[in-house]
Amino acid sequence: MKADVLLGLQWGDEGKGKVVDVLTPRYDLIARFQGGPNAGHTLEFEGTKHVLHTIPSGIFHADTLNVIGNGVVIDPVVFKKEVDSLLSRGVDVRKNLKISRKAHLILPTHRLLDAASEAAKGQSKIGSTLKGIGPAYMDKTGRNGIRIGDLENPRFIELYTALVDKHKAMLAHHQYAYDLSALEPDFFTALEVIRSIPFIDSEYVLNDALNSGKAILAEGAQGSLLDIDFGSYPFVTSSHTVTAGTCIGLGIAPTSIGKVYGIFKAYCTRVGSGPFPTELNDETGELLRTRGHEFGSTTGRARRCGWLDMPALKYAIMLNGVTELIMMKSDVLSGLDTLKVCTAYRYRGEEITHVPYDVVNEHIEPVYTELGGWSEDLTGVTDVAALPDGLNRYIDFIERETGLPVTIVSVGPDRMQTLLRTVLA
Ligand code: IMP
Repeated sequence: MKADVLLGLQWGDEGKGKVVDVLTPRYDLIARFQGGPNAGHTLEFEGTKHVLHTIPSGIFHADTLNVIGNGVVIDPVVFKKEVDSLLSRGVDVRKNLKISRKAHLILPTHRLLDAASEAAKGQSKIGSTLKGIGPAYMDKTGRNGIRIGDLENPRFIELYTALVDKHKAMLAHHQYAYDLSALEPDFFTALEVIRSIPFIDSEYVLNDALNSGKAILAEGAQGSLLDIDFGSYPFVTSSHTVTAGTCIGLGIAPTSIGKVYGIFKAYCTRVGSGPFPTELNDETGELLRTRGHEFGSTTGRARRCGWLDMPALKYAIMLNGVTELIMMKSDVLSGLDTLKVCTAYRYRGEEITHVPYDVVNEHIEPVYTELGGWSEDLTGVTDVAALPDGLNRYIDFIERETGLPVTIVSVGPDRMQTLLRTVLA
């Protein structure tokens, strides 16, 4: 078997959690391969909303194994909160969750360093979620990090103290005031919760699963335009959010990748700083934000909203080898007479259709194609045949531009508000 991948084609918050949950019955195993508690994957079913940060979105299906892969960074404190919240809703993660020994830990001092680093950047701050993601990945690549497997090492506390001492020196350099003693008790309590979950050599578990014919879905976090290499650097996250990140973050060979589901919103949002060519700072942007409830599920921050950006979408499709598209939040566009889609950029006096190197310092002006909208409310639609003509034209336009089928259309936050446009293999 091959491992399928589902990942975001924009700046995150596309709705990956919801679709992973919908697709989970088709898979034996769901695996997260990058990111950490900067993610907030929201799932809604049976009238209840669930937000997951570190735990894969297949967790509500008791027969599916969920794996936190080596490429993920885990904050035990956030993890414990997730476990407690799931337990209170009758989901015991100890039954179907396993953690890679090679995943890295986020320490309380990583969170402090994130805050200190953002404060030092002043106006040019990235708009980080301040969850300690960047500093934890820095320690990973700097060969200083502490891994889940180290929790099995009797010298764990020595490793912890040595790294915290390094962090204290860095915090002193930043002249950042903090009280670590207020954070450590929660951290050490939460480590015990982590220890109650089986640790695995996930690269073996996943490859064995593939070899024995099990179906795996890799769940991306953040979005392709936040990728450390291909995003609008430096306004990016610290991990590889593209398909290639699956191979690194799970130990799966590129030849083992099957379908790549690329998920995008019918419009665009971005949270945090950084370029956003189609951003709408007007009442249409406000309408998208209000109607789409565009407020961060991790930080509560208002998301910036704008029109669909085709050069950026095509760029993400190219980077990821997307095989099919999933369009989210179509219902939010209902009632708009005219929809704009950016089909090119005006850049340094020329019209271009690629994403240029310098998107941060250069002015990028979107060139729009206008399409008619639709007035119908979509949230009650249960059959693709009942989708309005305006929406079908919008989808046709996207399929023509990208050369890919839009196989799933989402018309609301609930699991049930998901329409398959084709019979999925
Ligand atoms: P960090 O990953 O917390 O360091 O944040 C870096 C940038 O990525 C900031 O602009 C964040 O707002 C953005 N970001 C990180 N995680 C997410 C996410 O899950 N959804 C949307 N934006 C995110």
